Amino acid sequence: MITAENLHKRYGSKTAVDGISFQLQPGKVTGFLGPNGSGKSTTMRMGVGLDKPTAGSITIDGKHFAQHKAPMRTVGAVLDAGATHPGRTGRAHLNVLAATHGISRSRIDHVIELTGLGGVVGKRIKGYSLGMNQRLGIAAALLGDPAVLIFDEPVNGLDPEGVRWVRGLAREMAAEGRTVFVSSHLMSEMSQTADHLIVLGRGRIIADAPIHELLDSGEKRVLVRTEQVAELANAITSRGVTIDHLDAETLQVTGLDPRSIGRRALEAQVIVHELTPQLSTLEDQYMKLTGDHVEYRSGGTFGEAPQ
Ligand SMILES: Nc1ncnc2c1ncn2[C@@H]1O[C@H](COP(=O)(O)OP(=O)(O)OP(=O)(O)O)[C@@H](O)[C@H]1O
Ligand SMILES: [Mg+2]
Repeated sequence: MITAENLHKRYGSKTAVDGISFQLQPGKVTGFLGPNGSGKSTTMRMGVGLDKPTAGSITIDGKHFAQHKAPMRTVGAVLDAGATHPGRTGRAHLNVLAATHGISRSRIDHVIELTGLGGVVGKRIKGYSLGMNQRLGIAAALLGDPAVLIFDEPVNGLDPEGVRWVRGLAREMAAEGRTVFVSSHLMSEMSQTADHLIVLGRGRIIADAPIHELLDSGEKRVLVRTEQVAELANAITSRGVTIDHLDAETLQVTGLDPRSIGRRALEAQVIVHELTPQLSTLEDQYMKLTGDHVEYRSGGTFGEAPQ
């Protein structure tokens, strides 16, 4: 279990993490989302003692990382997959890590097989691709068979098969009762992987909820198809209702449920061909939640001259 209590981190005048508290549950994948610079990596680094909180604490199973006698058996982390010696082979890297914790040769072989590194593990790391490095990082994290896993953007650099593999691995680890904490920029990825989401914006928590709650809380939109768009629009226009004309026969309505739209259409004698509630996507929700919390906003369209 990972617990953060009033966790703060300042770098000079910059506040990277601004008083966050959360508790991650075992048996679940918790997704950690937030725009660039919102404090995800800083939080994860403090979790494994690579950075010191300015105030507050983050503990794993009730203890600070450094207080664990055999930390690799408690928590496995992939924070910077490139943090390896380029001149060593993948197997030598794993051997060194395993030796610090008395981890057996058979366990090393097992994680090599699990991460699909068999073909390259005898080669020097400097020749590894981004994806191979990522897999080696994951292999190292799994070495101690830890109950807590922290993955900072684990799918960075992986091909579609690799992305699917990480997703499956995270789910499998959680199903085995482990606490799995994964940060990602891919909202769609999170909707398929995470049970629970913590969303950060400028160092603060802006949502901490089961993923289905975030999806359900989205604004409901309804797609309506009719040949009498003008009459229908007229019949449903009222305060709080937004109507977008998608094409000559299609309206997208926000702020009114399908039942009410159907009733008003009947009253106005409008024939409706289709009435479909649209599910809000996690992406929509994420954009809405983080809209005011983005630090680095993209400029205009590429190629556009500045105004
Ligand atoms: N070592 C450091 N020294 C100074 N500032 C830092 C340091 N590490 C992080 N920061 C700042 O703290 C803020 C949070 O950074 P962090 O890397 O935690 O964000 P993040 O959410 O992981 O972003 P990304 O999505 O881009 O990985 C940023 O403004 C960053 O510039
Ligand atoms: Mg980061």
